[in-house]
Amino acid sequence: MTAALLIERLEKRFAAGAKPAVDGVNFEVPAGEIVVLLGPSGCGKTTTLRCVAGLEHPTGGRISIGGRVVSEPERGVLVSPRERDIGMVFQSYAVWPHMTVRQNVAYPLKHRRNGAGSGGDIRTKVDETLELVGLRDYAERPVTSLSGGQMQRVALARSLVYRPQLLLLDEPLSNLDAKLRIRLRDELRRILKMTGMTGLYVTHDQAEAVVLGDRIGVMRNGKLLQMAPPGEIYNRPADSFVANFTGASNGLLGTVLARSGERATIDLGAAGRIEAWTPQPLAAGDKARVALRAENVRLGERGPANAFAGRVIERRYQGMQTVYDVELGGQRIEVLEVGTAARHEPNGEVAITLPPETCWAYRDDGTAVD
Ligand SMILES: Nc1ncnc2c1ncn2[C@@H]1O[C@H](COP(=O)(O)OP(=O)(O)OP(=O)(O)O)[C@@H](O)[C@H]1O
Ligand SMILES: [Mg+2]
Repeated sequence: MTAALLIERLEKRFAAGAKPAVDGVNFEVPAGEIVVLLGPSGCGKTTTLRCVAGLEHPTGGRISIGGRVVSEPERGVLVSPRERDIGMVFQSYAVWPHMTVRQNVAYPLKHRRNGAGSGGDIRTKVDETLELVGLRDYAERPVTSLSGGQMQRVALARSLVYRPQLLLLDEPLSNLDAKLRIRLRDELRRILKMTGMTGLYVTHDQAEAVVLGDRIGVMRNGKLLQMAPPGEIYNRPADSFVANFTGASNGLLGTVLARSGERATIDLGAAGRIEAWTPQPLAAGDKARVALRAENVRLGERGPANAFAGRVIERRYQGMQTVYDVELGGQRIEVLEVGTAARHEPNGEVAITLPPETCWAYRDDGTAVD
């Protein structure tokens, strides 16, 4: 089947000789799938999205939408944004302030070349779409009387109403307050799945990426580091940046003793040896960093592998959970335990287990991960 969106070796330089903002990115979005680009500020997410929209002119590579090449600078191909059959939702509420909700949503049907329909037809489509985004009762209201979350739903309805081949969303929830953001995030997934829409969604918020994405692509410095379903990004991060960016904040430093396939044994010095999973071809003698999540550590347990003797240095009770700083042979890790009781005393000896599946070894190139 033809991918709804295919991106091959995409490159965008804003100035000749400058470092590319998008640097050789490859991925595809099959029809009906939602792909999320996740990464820190300035990593090239918006630029990638704008290249797909045609608002930015790539300097290399090829973009195809529904099997049709829309951009390929090497061959002088560049299709205008209007002719790409895409919908877009941005961070700011791009609605027409002088119109009602209904008029806003009907606008693209009346003014797009391929969106034309009869009056009754338009009315039905608008009603259906307003129902979908939960604004049926607001149709006749002036759009400016709506809340931020409601306005963003109008913007969404406006780009869904003409059923584009591809919907592009750039941090559409980031202007909303935290509570509303979470609600609309869950709702957005439901709406996109109900319409069977193909989506490319950009965010720097991990939680949003996990909830919305069928697959997540993690970007850094214009490069796509890993693209995989959320569970794989979270449990099998391809490198130490992906691990760290998605919340594996602990790092234990050591030296590789042996590796066999994806299993590595690392010498942590005073703490002893640790077994870990690795996606990299580590060799004995390599400096390694073992990344792990605070919530995967088991405190007070002596498991069958990777069991150590630790010492609680500090305890921070947070009501629903407790965070411990634990010393492990001269290194420090953070441990998170869910539950309203803090079970371990500060300054106490404690058994600690780091389940091997949740320990990921990467080559330590000496650079701190931001
Ligand atoms: N019009 C432009 N001219 C020059 N440089 C640009 C332009 N737009 C973006 N850049 C640069 O390209 C890089 C990628 O920017 P981009 O907006 O794609 O990042 P982003 O991942 O969307 O970040 P954020 O999370 O902050 O929105 C940055 O270094 C940025 O400064
Ligand atoms: Mg951006």
